Amino acid sequence: METLRQHSEQLYKEELEVLSKQEKNKIPENWNMSPRSVLTFLMGGKLKNGFEVSPKYIGDKRLMEIAVATLTTDRALLLYGIPGTGKSWVSEHIAAAVSGDSTLLVQGTAGTSEESIRYGWNYAQLLAKGPSKEALVETPVMRAMQDGKIIRFEELTRVPAEVQDTLITILSEKALPVPELNMEIAAIKGFNLIATANNRDKGVNELSGALKRRFNTVILPTPKTEQEELNIVTSRVGAMAKAMEMPLEKSSLEQIKRVITIFRELRSGITEDGKTKLKSPSGTLSSAEVISVVNQGLSLSAHFGNGVLTSEDMAAGIIGAIVKDPVQDAIVWKEYLSSVMKKRKEYRDIYLSCKELI
Ligand SMILES: Nc1ncnc2c1ncn2[C@@H]1O[C@H](COP(=O)(O)OP(=O)(O)O)[C@@H](O)[C@H]1O
Ligand SMILES: [Mg+2]
Repeated sequence: METLRQHSEQLYKEELEVLSKQEKNKIPENWNMSPRSVLTFLMGGKLKNGFEVSPKYIGDKRLMEIAVATLTTDRALLLYGIPGTGKSWVSEHIAAAVSGDSTLLVQGTAGTSEESIRYGWNYAQLLAKGPSKEALVETPVMRAMQDGKIIRFEELTRVPAEVQDTLITILSEKALPVPELNMEIAAIKGFNLIATANNRDKGVNELSGALKRRFNTVILPTPKTEQEELNIVTSRVGAMAKAMEMPLEKSSLEQIKRVITIFRELRSGITEDGKTKLKSPSGTLSSAEVISVVNQGLSLSAHFGNGVLTSEDMAAGIIGAIVKDPVQDAIVWKEYLSSVMKKRKEYRDIYLSCKELI
């Protein structure tokens, strides 16, 4: 039975195999390929033997170089930025390329405890035999240290500050003391950590200075140009469109382009021509939101429409993404509708579809 979502190392198994087979560059100890090949896996490209590697990250190559290079040093990597800029996406693909395994993961929440980072105890064993190696419950962090792999830490800044600091010893000593057993787990080469963090979320706990110093921070930006954003969106919705037998022909691309323009304008607080200032809505409007609006539109159109992406299929999704706060955002949205969208001739159908829904 096929799983609902495949991990990067499953989905891109062939690419990863070809990349490590043709490797000519030096491979860091316990890595599956050289940093250069990891970069090719991320950015895509054609290999010498003609094999095409698909692009995963669309954007500045230099940022990916810095991210990958960081992992060969004794510093950990922090991917930082607003939601939906591809932080988790990049971290998954780097882990798949470097370690062949993107599943060693700690999800940071307000309830993340020290035990889920260091280790826990199997209480039945503990009561029966006392503290022993058998009673120790390993965490993904511990396993990554022992196997020389990449550990992913999602949403690090949601974790309470004192729990975050558990990472300091792990990142500076590269060891995890287990005082109960009078021993320590020492990390072997290849171990490192990729954390992701938001700066635009409720309940953010700043990293302490001591912890920050253990990281190199790479800020992932929102896409610079409309074309770049269109590439990101089409590369992500392509699979869905194919499954629904709805090729993304010209008219669908025009629909998608308009959503991107609307989101970019509201995000930046100014129209593309630089003439009209706008208020921004409370939520984030990243490429991830465009992707879900388009996916929703494709689904509506395939199941209840005529199989062509229309502005009616997009309107509900657009409003859902923009109006997160029923009072404040509704004002922002209505203003945008009447002062921008209404005046654009080529927006007539999408304007009417959106207007009908408010
Ligand atoms: N620059 C980018 N290149 C490729 N995909 C991107 C980019 N930015 C966003 N995405 C897409 O947006 C979606 C959300 O990204 P995600 O990694 O979950 O965001 P974050 O963790 O930053 O909140 C993913 O499907 C990803 O493919
Ligand atoms: Mg994320």
